[in-house]
Amino acid sequence: MSNIVVLGVQWGDEGKGKIVDLLTEGADVVARYQGGHNAGHTVIVKNKQFILHVIPSGILHKGKKCIIGNGVVIHPRALIDEIEGLKKRRVTVGKNLFISGRAHVIMPYHTLLDGKHEEAKGSQKIGTTGRGIGPAYVDKMSRSGFRMIDLLDSRSFKDKLKANLEDINFLLEKKYHQKKISVNTIYNQYMKYADYLGPFVTDTVVMINDLIDQGRHVLFEGAQGTLLDIDHGTYPFVTSSSATAGGVCTGLGVSPAKVDGIIGVMKAYTTRVGEGPFPTELHDSLGEELRARGGEYGATTGRARRCGWLDLVSLRHAIRINGLTGVALTKLDVLDGLDTIKVCTSYTYKDPTNSCSRKGRACKFTDMPQTVNVLSGCTPVYRELDGWQKSTKGATKMSDLPRQARVYMDYISEALNVKIDLISTGQKRDEIIFVNHPFKKAKKKK
Ligand code: GDP
Ligand code: IMO
Ligand code: MG
Repeated sequence: MSNIVVLGVQWGDEGKGKIVDLLTEGADVVARYQGGHNAGHTVIVKNKQFILHVIPSGILHKGKKCIIGNGVVIHPRALIDEIEGLKKRRVTVGKNLFISGRAHVIMPYHTLLDGKHEEAKGSQKIGTTGRGIGPAYVDKMSRSGFRMIDLLDSRSFKDKLKANLEDINFLLEKKYHQKKISVNTIYNQYMKYADYLGPFVTDTVVMINDLIDQGRHVLFEGAQGTLLDIDHGTYPFVTSSSATAGGVCTGLGVSPAKVDGIIGVMKAYTTRVGEGPFPTELHDSLGEELRARGGEYGATTGRARRCGWLDLVSLRHAIRINGLTGVALTKLDVLDGLDTIKVCTSYTYKDPTNSCSRKGRACKFTDMPQTVNVLSGCTPVYRELDGWQKSTKGATKMSDLPRQARVYMDYISEALNVKIDLISTGQKRDEIIFVNHPFKKAKKKK
């Protein structure tokens, strides 16, 4: 048995899609455990680009089982469109896709409320993807949500919908001055979705555990990233799910004892889309250059991603929380040609209330501060390393890399005390250096 998690260790968009696609070859099952269609995972296969939102990236490989777990929130229309879009491009989606009956459903009012909450927050907005993710998880936690299995019981679905809409319509009318939503409109729409998606719905907890017990290999595909995790991220500028390793267990019903390896996908620099503090953000032309070279535009919303240097403070936090067994370093090629590369090793912070500064001296953080107010006031302390002038694009062997690129990676690996197992040097599947194959490493460990 070797079951590996692939998750993001920054603010998402680290290149998880590419790494999952690459490792799917050695897996029998690929399973998503949290998030929804706020995710955008890009995979390039033979020069064709696919962007997966809620379907596991493993779908592009024939003969692999793909599971959407109970921790995911599903927008039925978006999922149907994604299935149809893949089928049009000759990707098989049928008996290879399984949806948990326990996964929660995104309703039209969730999407509406997501937008309204953001508008109401004004300059304090989160910068969500507008996909209704937060409100859907709110309903899940307040125990008024619908699960996929509920769509298959039309009578009780309608009764519960009526009850839910009483509250929702009150809010829409009184607070947001919107028109009421009609029960029948949603009911009719969602019953059509139920007809389409019903055949995919199953008890994925039983399924995945049986497969693991039979010795099948599972790849757990994370969405978003550690710094967007509801508990461990830069709250409140986070998403509403557990994007860290713990999310695998709750989001799929798999025991931690069955997880053999955790690969953190780490971009060689940092990006963030949406609002919230980002200490190493580059506000100058270099930030723009990284965006242009790295094609840093959201795969879901098309928004420009904010770019900056690698941040060891937040990465230490991510490594601790996830217990990484290895790292997949991506987009090394984007740093080609820079004279110097900076890495943030700590933050300094001058507390306006002087409670943490001694005699007006700034205090130092080597671990992530707990509040965004402090984090926004932090100044990064950098270590400068030499850049490299030779191209790393498409490199497949360590010996292809310039010495300075190896020094950069050795420095990161030592500073974070984690091994770099994979180095991605381009968008395509074969633009990769395997230092240690994660599945083989997990087997050896046993
Ligand atoms: P995800 O959400 O973590 O799957 O990442 P996204 O797909 O949102 O964004 C990552 C982007 O970087 C995509 O356009 C990928 O095709 C691209 N990408 C992934 N790995 C590499 C790499 O090593 N080099 C370059 N240049 N691009 C990469
Ligand atoms: P992948 O899986 C990057 C960000 C949004 C916003 C915050 C909350 O492609 O890495 P939400 O719509 O989830 O309520 O928005 O989270 N966000 C992402 N940023 N990559 C993602 O997914 C993201 N999913 C959500 O931009 O800041
Ligand atoms: Mg993405």
